[in-house]
Amino acid sequence: MRAKITVVGAGFVGSTTAQRLVEKRLGDVVLHDVVEGMPQGKALDIMQSACLEGFDGSIKGTNNPEDYADSDIVIVTSGLPRQPGMSRDDLLLKNAEIVGGVADNIKKYAPRATVIVISNPLDVMTCLVGAKTGFPKNRVMGMAGVLDSARFRCFIAMELGVSHRDVDAMVLGGHGDDMVPLARYSTVSGIAIENLLPKEKIDAMIARTRNGGAEIVKLLQKGSAYYAPSSAAVQMAESILTDSKRVLPCAAWCYGQYGISGMFVGVPCKLGAGGVEEIVELTLTPDELRQLQSSAAHVAESLKKLGF
Ligand code: 2OP
Repeated sequence: MRAKITVVGAGFVGSTTAQRLVEKRLGDVVLHDVVEGMPQGKALDIMQSACLEGFDGSIKGTNNPEDYADSDIVIVTSGLPRQPGMSRDDLLLKNAEIVGGVADNIKKYAPRATVIVISNPLDVMTCLVGAKTGFPKNRVMGMAGVLDSARFRCFIAMELGVSHRDVDAMVLGGHGDDMVPLARYSTVSGIAIENLLPKEKIDAMIARTRNGGAEIVKLLQKGSAYYAPSSAAVQMAESILTDSKRVLPCAAWCYGQYGISGMFVGVPCKLGAGGVEEIVELTLTPDELRQLQSSAAHVAESLKKLGF
């Protein structure tokens, strides 16, 4: 039997995510949005590519949250995207209202689903979904570390002129300007990038990674990135649906790991059928640990603004 995956929000991130899910044959997809006609139109368009792309799964557009029923995974993309000059935090109050409503619907209509949150500000929205659904914490997570690491990997590959496939990287912390790209855990075919590139180049790539979303917002002038964010969410969904147990950085519920407690923040996780099955604890230098904890403290400040 095919898995059922609901994507909430049929904007660019949501519809690209839905497209990637069916094209990778990961299951049947429900694409939900409050705007009438849009999810139905996009779903029909994607469905009409099935014979060309060769997938069997279905995709249904809907305005009715009752269609979330029996979802194995729900991916939340709802909310306003960033505009030029806006930080992810500027979106806080508006998106909390939208995502809070989505969380209520997930709790009501898809009580056994695993939830992947993409909406910004990412870590705070993941905390909100965790609190409002009341789901076991292993079944709620946020997509950011995979995206931020993909950006870091991309810049490393471009700088060295090597295959993107051979580059691995790890970015921890909140999905904000103080995320923590870990050069020490970033490699090209197992070779630490510190052996391949001078410090100034690595520092420049770290800065570009932290600014990765804003760079695209500035170029687009309207809206934010969606190709890489959708790929990142689908990689997480795939690891869960196929029980691959990949180790990917995700916003996960920390209960003491890295000295962080009672919040969702970006840490390396083993993702399988049980959702976040384990948080992997890397050995960090005192400076890396300080950066990670300070990024988590920033998320905690935003949570206070929402009354947490
Ligand atoms: C990004 O980093 C939208 O937060 C997303 O592109």
